[in-house]
Parts: sequence; C-alpha cells; structure tokens
Amino acid sequence: MRSFFNTLPALPVVVVALAGIASAVSLEQRTPAPELNQLQARVTTDPQTCVEYEKYIGIHDVSGAYYPGCADITHSCLALNGTSIWSHSQCVAAAMCQGTTSVVYLNQCQNPNVKEADAIPNLSGAIWASIVGSCVDDGCPMTQQNFIDFVYGAMSAANTTQWPTSSANVVTDWWDPILSWTATGTTIPYNNLDDWLHYSSS
Ligand SMILES: *[C@@H]1O[C@H](CO)[C@@H](O)[C@H](O)[C@H]1NC(C)=O
Ligand SMILES: *[C@@H]1O[C@H](CO)[C@@H](O)[C@H](O)[C@H]1NC(C)=O
Ligand SMILES: *[C@@H]1O[C@H](CO)[C@@H](O)[C@H](O)[C@H]1NC(C)=O
Repeated sequence: MRSFFNTLPALPVVVVALAGIASAVSLEQRTPAPELNQLQARVTTDPQTCVEYEKYIGIHDVSGAYYPGCADITHSCLALNGTSIWSHSQCVAAAMCQGTTSVVYLNQCQNPNVKEADAIPNLSGAIWASIVGSCVDDGCPMTQQNFIDFVYGAMSAANTTQWPTSSANVVTDWWDPILSWTATGTTIPYNNLDDWLHYSSS
C-alpha cells in the first residue's frame, strides 16, 4: 500500500484512487491518508502565530497604524476563505492597508491551501484593470488617486462605518510604505505591485 501511493504520478489520480479504495477497505487499511496530505504540500501555520495575527487585524505590519476600516477590509477578505488570495480585491486591499505578511498568514491559518507568499498566484488582471481604469491596455501604472479610490472602495464593500479621518493619513500610512518598497517614483506599475505582494514581506 505504501509503495503504491508513493509511486503514483499525479495527485488527482491519488485522490480518485483513494476514494475508490477507501470505500472498499476496512478502517485499518486506510493508513495512506497522512501521505496524501504530504503530497498536497499544505502550508501548516503555528496556532500561536495565528492567534497573534488575529489580535492585530487592522494594524499595519510595518507602521503599526490601526484603522477600523482596515480591520473591516481584512475581515471581509478572510470571510471569502480564498486560496488565490490576490484574485480577491478585498484581500489585495487588506495587504495594502495592513501589510502582506499578516494577510498571507491569516489566510493560511484558516486555509492550508494558501501557498507561501512567493508562490501565491499573481495579482488578477481584472483587479488591476479595476484599479487603473481605461488606460490599462496602455500599461499605465497605479497613481496615488487610483490607490485611494481602490482602498476606499474596499472599505465601502466591507461596510465600514468608521472611516479614516483623512485620505492624507491613508497616503502616509498605507500608500507611502508600498511606494517606498517598489521605489518606482510617484506611481506603481503592475509588475512592481505584484512583486510587492509576493516578495516584500511587509
Ligand atoms: C477554508 O477552506 C479550507 C480549505 O477548503 C477549509 O479546510 C476550511 O475549513 C475553511 N475555513 C473556513 C473558516 O471556512
Ligand atoms: C507571474 O508573474 C511573474 C513575474 O511577472 C511571471 O514571471 C510569471 O510567469 C507569472 N505567473 C503566471 C502564472 O502568470
Ligand atoms: C455589506 O452589506 C450588504 C448589505 O447589507 C451585504 O449584502 C454585504 O454582504 C455586506 N458585506 C460585508 C463584507 O459584510
């Protein structure tokens, strides 16, 4: 049984095979299950780390700034329980307002299929298009105003009632740290934002 599961070529085959076998064998014979989990290379997170990040929802990983509106965005991201988290605008906005590390961790804590930061699928083109607007086909970058519109839109979608007191604070506490990492002047192109999501550990 062991070598049978070890030598199977592809996971979907294993799943089908296991499903077929499981119904036909006794409980005792179903020991390959843990190996199946290993094949899936699920991300395991330390429960204590998860508790910590849960406590700091809405607080920026780097600046330490807390915004209730950001907490609302992050809760709305987590409610989706997604796997390709950069295909969910609420999760992209959550990373923007509290940092990538905590948002990746929080998602992994509830869904072990969320990969390590550098292996999470790229930022969705549809989300990018919604951020930059009609100039997307010309490869235009995200402006500060695009950013403000996007994160305020995310707070609105999260039914925020406590808004930031001024967009100037949002620029200082959320936009500037991203711009400082990408080092792309006053705007941010797609590839740099995507790199920031995957590699900034912010
Ligand atoms: C999230 O999805 C994962 C993977 O499908 C599942 O194991 C987990 O129970 C879900 N968590 C919540 C809170 O729905
Ligand atoms: C994600 O983006 C990187 C860098 O731009 C690129 O090399 C890679 O092919 C993209 N991955 C997918 C699945 O599109
Ligand atoms: C926001 O409120 C609307 C209307 O009550 C509701 O449909 C939606 O699910 C809420 N969104 C979140 C993220 O709670």
